[in-house]
Amino acid sequence: MEFNHIPVMLSEAVEGLSVKPGGVYVDATLGGGGHSAKILSELGEGRLIAFDLDEWALNNARERFAGEERITLVNDNFKRIPEVLTDMGIDKIDGAIFDLGISSPQIDTPERGFSYMHDAPLDMRMDLNATKNAYDVVNGYSEEALTGVFREYGEEKAAYRIAEDIVRTRKVKPIESTFELVKIVERHYPANPRKRSGHPAKRVFQALRIEVNDELDGLSEAIEKTTLRLKPGGRIAVITFHSLEDRIVKNVFKELEKDCTCPKNFPVCVCGKRKEIEVLTKKPITAGEEELTKNPRAASAKLRIAERV
Ligand SMILES: C[S@@+](CC[C@H](N)C(=O)[O-])C[C@H]1O[C@@H](n2cnc3c(N)ncnc32)[C@H](O)[C@@H]1O
Repeated sequence: MEFNHIPVMLSEAVEGLSVKPGGVYVDATLGGGGHSAKILSELGEGRLIAFDLDEWALNNARERFAGEERITLVNDNFKRIPEVLTDMGIDKIDGAIFDLGISSPQIDTPERGFSYMHDAPLDMRMDLNATKNAYDVVNGYSEEALTGVFREYGEEKAAYRIAEDIVRTRKVKPIESTFELVKIVERHYPANPRKRSGHPAKRVFQALRIEVNDELDGLSEAIEKTTLRLKPGGRIAVITFHSLEDRIVKNVFKELEKDCTCPKNFPVCVCGKRKEIEVLTKKPITAGEEELTKNPRAASAKLRIAERV
């Protein structure tokens, strides 16, 4: 199968990085390599280090960027960017991009189990070497834990009823496929059409994916630590696809932008807090009409950019 992913807000994100020829850049989420390719086209003699958890994305990039010596591909979690940079002997970088979530080929490959539109075994692992998959969560978590996952990561109103139904159903037989799970979730979709939004299983699948891949845990730290590796004037661009991720990015940036937090009547600063960045996007950038007609998956995307001071 071909690895087709249309990069989201390609110009906005890479222009936002203001790539310096000869600079060192990090693509935290390589995917199909769309953002990486555009960075390379502006990079001159610079260097790009691109991360992905998914070996499939890395293999695709090995072909796409064959013979390209300026890119180093790293099969690792972006939570380890600072350690990997240090191991490479790199201290400061000129820019970094995070394009969170999963790529279209991951969603569109039924056997990866990410999609509620295809019947497939419950999997949802980005990293195929990871031990925990969606089957383990659905069949192994307690009713209480499942309720928490659906409520917290899916903002699912029927979280408790769906979790209760899952636990009742799996007593008869394990829940093995995406469609078995969809059938359970559909039983709790509101009868009132005005209370319905999107596919019935959208929120539960989002929640499971976040739980399986531990997507939110450590995200804030990863973005903060990567930002602090930027040289003065270096930029970070982050694209998110749901409100939980966007809130995390907004809050990290807000915290890093704050200067001394001592009470006004203190004669000297004792907190030591310094403004580390300037947020360049007071409101997040969203995809334009033209992009949305070509790529509906860009609809929920939000781009935030900050510059190291
Ligand atoms: C939305 S896609 C990126 C698409 C890419 N910007 C492009 O232009 O093709 C997100 C990619 O990030 C990877 N990914 C998600 N979380 C990750 C993490 N914590 N560490 C490394 N890679 C991650 C996914 O496997 C996926 O390939």
